[in-house]
Formats: sequence, structure tokens, C-alpha cells
Amino acid sequence: MRALVVYESMFGNTEAVAEEIAAGVATRFGVDVAEVSSAPRSIGGDVRLLIVGGPTHAFGMTRASTRRSAAEQAGRDLVSAGEGVREWLDSLSGGSPDVDAAAFDTRVRRPRLPGSAARGARKRLRRGGFRVIAPAVSFFVEGMTGPLSQGESQRARQWGEQIAARVTEKQR
Ligand SMILES: Cc1cc2nc3c(=O)[nH]c(=O)nc-3n(C[C@H](O)[C@H](O)[C@H](O)COP(=O)(O)O)c2cc1C
Repeated sequence: MRALVVYESMFGNTEAVAEEIAAGVATRFGVDVAEVSSAPRSIGGDVRLLIVGGPTHAFGMTRASTRRSAAEQAGRDLVSAGEGVREWLDSLSGGSPDVDAAAFDTRVRRPRLPGSAARGARKRLRRGGFRVIAPAVSFFVEGMTGPLSQGESQRARQWGEQIAARVTEKQR
């Protein structure tokens, strides 16, 4: 039984959150962490838990246009230079109610804006046939390029632990 954490990230904040979540999940599962462009297009039979996350852009999941804008503003290479979680989820196969799933995002702490990439990802996971087992969760950054707000790394690790516990406890 394995878990797969798939992330998209422009400046590294969502990547860092994904690694913390994976560390939390690893208390109960073997975990693979994949940047979205190298993530599998089909979820294998050994995957029991799928966690997907990305940065919030323009109140939702990234699009080609917002990723371009991030690249222009960054002035450096982006962590995810290819497609995003939106496109990956749209092309994903292997959805099954036997695979538990959850979604997360990062977004700015202040000003708190409406909208969240995780909500969009969660909806797509459900539509794709996965069993969504948690509300969408956001982790906060201090500015567009970060850093993560204080305490968010620990909160991400704890969230990973809680999700993994939910999956294993359900099985008893
Ligand atoms: C083009 C663009 C649009 C953004 N729109 C939003 C938004 O609507 N709401 C929000 O809270 N943050 C927004 N942000 C901030 C991102 O959420 C932030 O850059 C991200 O969480 C950082 O994660 P990353 O380093 O993994 O890319 C936006 C950032 C960019 C580059």
C-alpha cells in the first residue's frame, strides 16, 4: 500500500509543503512525491492514497497564462515549468473509490483573497472517481514568492499524518 503526493509549484513553497505532507504520511505509508510534470498519468493499483496540491493563481488552479505571469515576475526558473495540476487531473485515469484522495494549496496569508486551487482540485478528484476524504486545505505564504508563513510547515506535516491515519483507521 502506497501513497502518492503530486504537486505543482512556481517558487518552491508548494513543493516544500508537499514534502512536509509526505513526511507526515510516511508515518503510515510508503510515499512517492512527484512534481506534476513527472507524475504518472494513470494511478496504479498499489496506490491507496493520492494527495494533490498546487499554488492558488487568480482564485483557482493555475492556467498557462498565470504560469507565464509567474515566470515573468520570478525572473528565474520555476519549479514547475510545464503543465499544472489542472491539466494533469483532466488527463488522469485510474480513478477509483478504492483510492482515497485529498487536495491542498498554497495562497497568500494577507490580504486573504477568495478562492482556492485546492477546491478546484478536490472537485476534479471527485469527478475523476476518487474517494475524497478531506476538505480542501490551504497553507499560507507571506508574499507571492513566499516564504511559508510561520508554523505552516508543521501544520502541513500534521495534516499529512491526519490524512494517513484516516485512511488506515477506516480499514480496520
Ligand atoms: C499569477 C499569480 C496569481 C496569483 N493569484 C493568487 C490568488 O488569487 N490568491 C492568493 O491567495 N494568492 C495568489 N497568488 C499567490 C500564490 O498563491 C503564491 O505565489 C503561491 O502560493 C506560492 O507557491 P509556489 O512557490 O509553490 O508557487 C498568485 C500568484 C501568481 C504568480
